[in-house]
Amino acid sequence: MTEVLEPGILKGVASTTVNKLLKAGFTTVKAIAVTPAREIADVAGMGSDTALKVCRLARMHVDPGFIPALEVLEMRKSMLKCTTSSSELDRIFGGGVETGSITELIGEFGSGKTQICFTLSVNAQLSKEEGGLGGNVCAIDTEGTFMPERVMQIAQEKGLDAEKILEGILVARAYNSEHQAILISSLPELVERSNIKLVIVDSMIGHFRGEYIGRANLSMRQQKLASCLSHLLRVAEAFNVAIVLTNQVLATPDTMYGDPNKPTGGHVMAHACTHRVFLRKGKQNTRLARVIDSPSLPEERIRFAITGAGIVDAEE
Ligand code: GTP
Ligand code: MG
Repeated sequence: MTEVLEPGILKGVASTTVNKLLKAGFTTVKAIAVTPAREIADVAGMGSDTALKVCRLARMHVDPGFIPALEVLEMRKSMLKCTTSSSELDRIFGGGVETGSITELIGEFGSGKTQICFTLSVNAQLSKEEGGLGGNVCAIDTEGTFMPERVMQIAQEKGLDAEKILEGILVARAYNSEHQAILISSLPELVERSNIKLVIVDSMIGHFRGEYIGRANLSMRQQKLASCLSHLLRVAEAFNVAIVLTNQVLATPDTMYGDPNKPTGGHVMAHACTHRVFLRKGKQNTRLARVIDSPSLPEERIRFAITGAGIVDAEE
């Protein structure tokens, strides 16, 4: 339900307040409903009492409160899964990259994180029947690695109209962590306006690691990161969108047992991401993938391959 914000829709809210909200980019009632009042006060420049009132009214519009579990079941049926084009990778994801939660791709350089993102950017635009999400894509590029030519190649190899696919991907280059946070907080509005069904942040953590160096800055870094992640989770849940983040690994040479490569971002990242997948380079163009920390999926190692057509199943 997309209710456009206009004077009169929130009973008892002055039109000057509505105009402030519109100016700050809150163009729908839902965008207000999913944003904390404190933030609305800051962004739209209004008193905290007004922001609280606006928020409460907006939530009443979109949130029915307690509902029967049967309805929850019905709502969960609206969860969609986007194919990665590798049946093995789809299988360990429980059927594909799902909407309503955050999926994290973890791995060293060249492990295929960005290539999976490219393939998903194409596939998400397919219809639900074809394994897509039937919507558009938003990509936040923090490293300058978004390559439209490569996306075009993947689309062409799949026999799709490559220009149309590129038109369906909205790309923003984030130059630093603050810019990245601003782009993320603008998502609720963008997602509704442009029928976005997949949001990619590649990489989620690069800027944060580069800017907050040393122990003294760690807690500040984690706080800012947590705030970005909670925004993303809200977007995933409120708008039934799939969120895919990439993350690097950190070598911890003092590890006695298990894999010495750990995902960066610590507990903050671990808690926010529902599905975490570890990627490693295999022989030639193959890659190994393993789900980690999943409450419902087994820790199984599978192989896939990177080709001109993007992600595919590895040959036996
Ligand atoms: P970082 O961003 O550096 O951390 O790495 P990443 O995990 O994002 O790596 P990425 O997904 O960019 O994978 C790069 C790998 O994909 C390289 O090893 C390339 O060999 C492979 N690759 C990229 N384009 C093509 C292509 O057109 N054909 C084939 N066969 N492989 C490709
Ligand atoms: Mg990359």
